[in-house]
Amino acid sequence: MEKIIDGEKLNIPEHVAIIMDGNGRWAKKRLMPRNFGHKAGAKVVEQICEDAHSLGIKYLTVYAFSTENWKRSVEEVSGIMNLLRNYLVDSIERASKNNMRVRVIGDRTALDKDIVEKIEELEDKTAQYDGLTFTIALNYGGRDELRRGIKAITADVKAGKISEDAIDEKLISSYLDTSDLPDPDLMIRTSGEVRLSNYLIWQLAYAEFCFMDVLWPDFTIEDLKEAIRYYNGKERRFGGVK
Ligand code: FPP
Repeated sequence: MEKIIDGEKLNIPEHVAIIMDGNGRWAKKRLMPRNFGHKAGAKVVEQICEDAHSLGIKYLTVYAFSTENWKRSVEEVSGIMNLLRNYLVDSIERASKNNMRVRVIGDRTALDKDIVEKIEELEDKTAQYDGLTFTIALNYGGRDELRRGIKAITADVKAGKISEDAIDEKLISSYLDTSDLPDPDLMIRTSGEVRLSNYLIWQLAYAEFCFMDVLWPDFTIEDLKEAIRYYNGKERRFGGVK
């Protein structure tokens, strides 16, 4: 979809995937605990969903907690989980206001039961909305997602539901958590790190990657527009001028 943004005609990516990095450093700069940064980061998530929708983005997918993040301190992990609890509950009302469908990808089996119930309720209550589709990657790892998908394919081959010859790229995609999403067109990672960190490794095969220096709690619609301009090939340097 094309849209005029700040006087410039731009092609809007349909699906944007974000690695929200830099919460810890943002908090440290303020001599505050890491969870202070995650809290600020969660607020930015709410705003960016509205901004993404207003810019014409149809799908937004964010990395909230990776399969590797369990290695962090108990205090930090429980802080993030509590933020998510609140977010999942508050989102029911917010999503209805913003016409937003919310869904969660990743391995739910390791999550607390009450979180799984809150996810199911939120997915159920927002399934009808057709504005932005907002996907939260939670206890998500790209390799783990492939592992689970391959197990499911193998089980279906064994059960005679599909033949081995039917295994093509489309079929593999249909066994992943993202089966109902188009592949991302643009991947944004904040905080200056240039890594994929096991995020959507299958789905990002053809995406444009935009690495930005801004720390996630400082991310605004202006940064999102900058990433979209980069996606359009209109800007080649990042983070330098602010
Ligand atoms: C990366 O920053 C951020 C995370 C691992 C957690 C992201 C979580 C949130 C933004 C809050 C909850 C999300 C939602 C959807 C409500 P970091 O801690 O690695 O920062 P650092 O690299 O500066 O230490």
